[in-house]
Amino acid sequence: MADASSFYITTPIFYVNDVPHIGHAYTEVAADVLARWNRQAGRDTWMLTGTDEHGQKILRTATANGVSPQEWADKLVADAWKPLLDTVDVANDDFIRTTDERHERNVQRFLQHLFDEGWIYTGEYEGYYCVGCEEYKQQSELVDGTGEYEGQLVCAIHSKPVELLHEKNYFFRMSAFADRLLALYEERPDFVQPESARNEVVSFVRRGLDDLSISRSTFDWGVKVPWDETHVVYVWFDALLNYITAVGYGEDDDRFARRWPAQHLVGKDILRFHAVIWPAMLMAAGLDVPTGVFGHGWLLVGGEKMSKSKLTGIAPSQITDTFGSDAFRYYFLSAISFGQDGSFSWEDLAARYQAELANGFGNLASRVIAMIGRYCGGAVPTGTEAARTEADEAIRRIEQEATDAAWQAIDRLQIHEAIAATWRLVDALNGYITEQEPWVLAKDEAVRARLEAVLETAYHGVGTLAVLLSPVLPKATAKLWTALGAPGTVQEQRIDRAHEWSVGTQTSALEPLFPRVEATE
Ligand code: ME8
Ligand code: MG
Repeated sequence: MADASSFYITTPIFYVNDVPHIGHAYTEVAADVLARWNRQAGRDTWMLTGTDEHGQKILRTATANGVSPQEWADKLVADAWKPLLDTVDVANDDFIRTTDERHERNVQRFLQHLFDEGWIYTGEYEGYYCVGCEEYKQQSELVDGTGEYEGQLVCAIHSKPVELLHEKNYFFRMSAFADRLLALYEERPDFVQPESARNEVVSFVRRGLDDLSISRSTFDWGVKVPWDETHVVYVWFDALLNYITAVGYGEDDDRFARRWPAQHLVGKDILRFHAVIWPAMLMAAGLDVPTGVFGHGWLLVGGEKMSKSKLTGIAPSQITDTFGSDAFRYYFLSAISFGQDGSFSWEDLAARYQAELANGFGNLASRVIAMIGRYCGGAVPTGTEAARTEADEAIRRIEQEATDAAWQAIDRLQIHEAIAATWRLVDALNGYITEQEPWVLAKDEAVRARLEAVLETAYHGVGTLAVLLSPVLPKATAKLWTALGAPGTVQEQRIDRAHEWSVGTQTSALEPLFPRVEATE
């Protein structure tokens, strides 16, 4: 069972240079499922997401489109990034923008504090900068360009030319934190997950850390450095701080103490920023490091990371318009082992929708509700103990096992395992109904008590499923909850005790939860 602690989960804040694709939606739904699950387990839960709006990448995009960066960001947030949350049914508690006043003034406060403590100095830097990554690159991270970039050095991630910059900047003494970071990874082996991500981070830090350039002076789209307004704060330094400025850092100590530290969920592309730079920044400021950093895998297209800059993005609504938001959530979180890369295909999505959601779970729910309607006039059978058999006890046990196993998996951020544990109950119930043949029992009044026991067992199992699946399938399980006639809403049920849900007395009709999908593209 869950403890009463708090759970604060974050997604990256996304660049508003372009509209979201299913990779961004994937991070959103993963964070949302973890948040909903923890909330339903009684933890004091907070989910934060938002947008990253400063820096050269956004400035250049806005300029190319003939508008100011603020206008550009406002438009993208209103037209694309906030609507994404509705499209995939995310119930975030807050949405932070790096242009929010509450963020900017506390970025300045944080920076001033580090400056006063002697962690910041003036220096000069020359290096290759990738505007796509918003990062200085080492020689080893560059490759020879091809096609229109033949003869130039390009970023290995974006395949676009890097720019040689020479600037006088402010620097953060990050090099001073290498040993403390290594000690952190050692003492808390789960600080960076999965294991492959942890190994990468540890070997990176073992090679030694450089100090970090944290300001820019050749453009002004950013938070002003408080003691020198000719500089703006480096966009990553600014962006990482969203995780604390959103929960009261600098101005609401109670709120900050209640929420911080957070579990960060990011794609593995931005692991180092979160597992190296960010904890070093927090250590310098004397604040707690995050609870953990989980780097999930990439959605791939043709073996490469789906990306805005390479124009391989698929819009989330292309999937949800046909299959619905529940199916989107279920598909990406069950088909991909959380932490691994995964390839999306329409065929795979359509096949799993039909086999697992429509035939596996949806049909089970429909049959059980329909049989209680047909054989009992919708009255939920009760008091059937005397007519129960070992098969019924087995289902009760699996309800409890699935509840426990799923919660343990979620507590380790293993979303796909939690769904798999829940699916053992789907399969067990389908097997149970096939074996018990309630439609045969219904023909013989002499076995009426047994029929009611079977329907009660099936009803109870389906209710447990409704609770367990509510974080992943919020829409379908809400409909099912109504049909079960159960009190309250399914979202109010304790998920760590899903098998103890309080039953209803009267069922009502249930439309198919996952209707047949005709065309798949
Ligand atoms: O990096 N597969 O923003 P960003 C899976 N603003 N996830 C993907 C993905 C893919 N193919 N493509 C993108 C930034 N993502 C910074 C973050 S945080 C303080 C600042 C998801 O718009 C994944 O979560 O480039 C990845 O880490 C993130 O989008 C990068 O979003
Ligand atoms: Mg990116």
